[in-house]
Amino acid sequence: MTHSASSRDIIATCWITQDCYHYHPQVWSIGVFVHPLYRSRGLGSLLYQHIHDLATLHPPVQFRKRLREDQIDGQTFYFLRRKKFVEARRLQESVLDISLIKGERFPSLPHSLRLFPYNSLPDPQPQREQKYFSLLQALMPDIPLLPPRPLLSFNDFQRYRLPLLNLACTVIAYDISTSEYVGLCELRKTVDPTKVTMGVTGVILSYRRQGIATAMKITAIHLAHKNQIEQIWTTNDRSNMAILRLNVSLGFKPTHTLIDFVASPVT
Ligand SMILES: CC(C)(COP(=O)(O)OP(=O)(O)OC[C@H]1O[C@@H](n2cnc3c(N)ncnc32)[C@H](O)[C@@H]1OP(=O)(O)O)[C@@H](O)C(=O)NCCC(=O)NCCS
Repeated sequence: MTHSASSRDIIATCWITQDCYHYHPQVWSIGVFVHPLYRSRGLGSLLYQHIHDLATLHPPVQFRKRLREDQIDGQTFYFLRRKKFVEARRLQESVLDISLIKGERFPSLPHSLRLFPYNSLPDPQPQREQKYFSLLQALMPDIPLLPPRPLLSFNDFQRYRLPLLNLACTVIAYDISTSEYVGLCELRKTVDPTKVTMGVTGVILSYRRQGIATAMKITAIHLAHKNQIEQIWTTNDRSNMAILRLNVSLGFKPTHTLIDFVASPVT
């Protein structure tokens, strides 16, 4: 897009998507963008109405918009307020530049514990996928997420969420005395093969504070390095002190504050 919009330029756009990672059939992520020269003429409202019309396929219970705090100007804020969006939570985005890691101290883990990349887990399919899904479901209530909580069936997990993961670098903590999966640290692919995002990291309650999350993250970082990945990005709820402290100790550097806004659709 150019600064002086000509008759052939796109002057405004809107989009509506769903989050496969934390899927809920009635929660929609939306975006509206109007070229600066064409603002304050009602185009944004027109597109927002279009989004409402498109969403009638699965009657939405919530619209969400995530914005970087430093990119919210007066006009954006005014638009959000007029459409009755309210701030729901703040997130910390951070990045780890893998070339700068200095070799973190690997914690000594409980005797029966082993760490595996997802692709090398000892269980064959379909048990591997089922055990992974069960662990994820068990961890979900402990992860700070916006209501309504995600509704992910095993079928949706296989079709939509699993393909997002880098399975060579996603790490599972496996207890060989019970054959149970007790922790996971997910790395997600991005469009850029040198970058991944760190998704859910979680350990089941009875195994926490034994260094397992630290060990899984260090292993995931080393696997990423071996797979020519240069940067790991992550986004965490600003209230989740446990994961924020852990990430800082591993060398993640804060980049931006993100804000999730939510609105109920107008009926
Ligand atoms: C966050 C979580 C993964 C940590 O797992 P863990 O195996 O207990 O973590 P570790 O034992 O490796 O702890 C490493 C460091 O993290 C920090 N930490 C972990 N749990 C903490 C807590 N409850 N409060 C404050 N700091 C905490 C500490 O700095 C800790 O080091 P220390 O034990 O030397 O003080 C675990 O609490 C969890 O599964 N939480 C629910 C899921 C979640 O919120 N995940 C993050 C968003 S995806």
